[in-house]
Amino acid sequence: MTTDAPPLLEVDDLHVRFRVRRGVFGGGSYTVYALRGVSLTMRAGETLGVVGESGSGKSTLGRALLRLTDLHRGTIRLEGQAVHALKGRMLDFRRDLQAVFQDPYASLNPAMVVADIVGEPLTVHFGLRGRERDAKTAALLDRVGLAADHLERYPAEFSGGQRQRIAVARALALEPRLIVCDEPVSALDVSTQSQVINLLQALQASFGIAYLFIAHDLAVVRHISHRIAVMYLGSIVEMGPAQRVCDQPAHPYTEMLLAAAPVTDPVEQRRRKALRRKLPASELPSPAEVLPGCPFHTRCAYATDICKQQLPSPSPVAGGGWAACHLLPAAG
Ligand SMILES: Nc1ncnc2c1ncn2[C@@H]1O[C@H](COP(=O)(O)OP(=O)(O)OP(=O)(O)O)[C@@H](O)[C@H]1O
Ligand SMILES: [Mg+2]
Repeated sequence: MTTDAPPLLEVDDLHVRFRVRRGVFGGGSYTVYALRGVSLTMRAGETLGVVGESGSGKSTLGRALLRLTDLHRGTIRLEGQAVHALKGRMLDFRRDLQAVFQDPYASLNPAMVVADIVGEPLTVHFGLRGRERDAKTAALLDRVGLAADHLERYPAEFSGGQRQRIAVARALALEPRLIVCDEPVSALDVSTQSQVINLLQALQASFGIAYLFIAHDLAVVRHISHRIAVMYLGSIVEMGPAQRVCDQPAHPYTEMLLAAAPVTDPVEQRRRKALRRKLPASELPSPAEVLPGCPFHTRCAYATDICKQQLPSPSPVAGGGWAACHLLPAAG
């Protein structure tokens, strides 16, 4: 099952903090601990789904990998290259890591036609111009299911799903090894969602691209991911094979997320309803505080004294992966 190849991505003990001013006219500032020691590895061609409530740090993780946000501590290595140490022009000339965001309208320049949106990176990174560039751009559009006569149109002339295809084509132009997809289908209607997901999967099959796939919708994440990482207050609390995490969640927080997800199967609906009664769906604690103990203990129906005092370390879970919870049955 394992290969000797080094992992595509290795993230170790990543911390990101934001200084936030209380008010425009003084009032001091406070610190948001947005990532609190995230470690993970990804293999080439793998999809790692990232789930968690709003504010759990999913986008911050994606932006940290892309170096769109400052790192407080920790390391990021992509194919062995120390991404955390890159500076200035070195950062601008990265090709291996690209992004597709939720709102293609905000991420595509409205004043540029598609030929330039997709073609510009080909000039900047590969020096392609003229006919050569046009041919490559047309081939990329074809790859994402758009037609060559779309080349001279502006983003506003497309539907949401088509705009997301343009964003994918632009990311693809640089032949990346990893694409951070931050809620790429959340703004689309359900049938368009599945078309874009199918496209991402087809591209993965053809080019072996890995995806860090961030989403709220567990059903979507389960469908597309090989493994899932569950985030809570800036930490990964559970990670493992997608099916195992969804069918046999080991962390009470994962259980809570699943209980909150809509399902159609009546048997499953009853099971989730029973779960919801067990777990109080209270508010997320402040991201500006670091509580002692397990980050989830204030909301966990099973919390005991040790959960309030000691940070649990990751332990292996039957069926694959790990969870950081004091109450897991001892492995062995
Ligand atoms: N630029 C910023 N300045 C200050 N705080 C920030 C900034 N970006 C994110 N945060 C804070 O960091 C924490 C993590 O935010 P993040 O956007 O990563 O969460 P998320 O899991 O992506 O949430 P959502 O599901 O709503 O997209 C939150 O408390 C958020 O308010
Ligand atoms: Mg987000």
